[in-house]
Amino acid sequence: MMHRWAWAVCLLGALPVLAAEAPPGAPERQSLTRFVRQECGFCHGLRLTGGLGAPLTVDRMRERPLDYLQSVILHGIPGTAMPGWSAFLTPQQVQWIAERLREGFPE
Ligand code: HEC
Repeated sequence: MMHRWAWAVCLLGALPVLAAEAPPGAPERQSLTRFVRQECGFCHGLRLTGGLGAPLTVDRMRERPLDYLQSVILHGIPGTAMPGWSAFLTPQQVQWIAERLREGFPE
């Protein structure tokens, strides 16, 4: 027998999934930008110019196919320190990040 609060928890859990169907809106774009600068910057450098991880600079990223970048961000690169982010980012968010990387990541 399921308690009433358990249903509420299930409903709350479903909401972000529904919201993630659309491309990120303005507030989400800001938090995604911060997320990348902090979490990815940890390895790729605060300015994304490289550190433990390769530089994510526009000149390099432009040469990479969009689907390659999306796959690397979602699934990581096995055998390297590059982790997959599918537990934290939706495919739509990853697409947004990959597109921004190829045109110069926003501040
Ligand atoms: C724990 C360290 C670490 C974190 C955190 C990290 N990366 Fe990486 N990443 C790496 C390493 C190391 C490589 C290079 C792997 C190799 O040797 O090819 C890499 C490679 C990449 C590449 C391929 C670069 C190229 O030139 O093809 C992309 C794109 C990338 N990371 C994006 C991201 C994004 C976006 C995030 C945040 C969501 C992120 N990384 C977070 C370590 C990290």
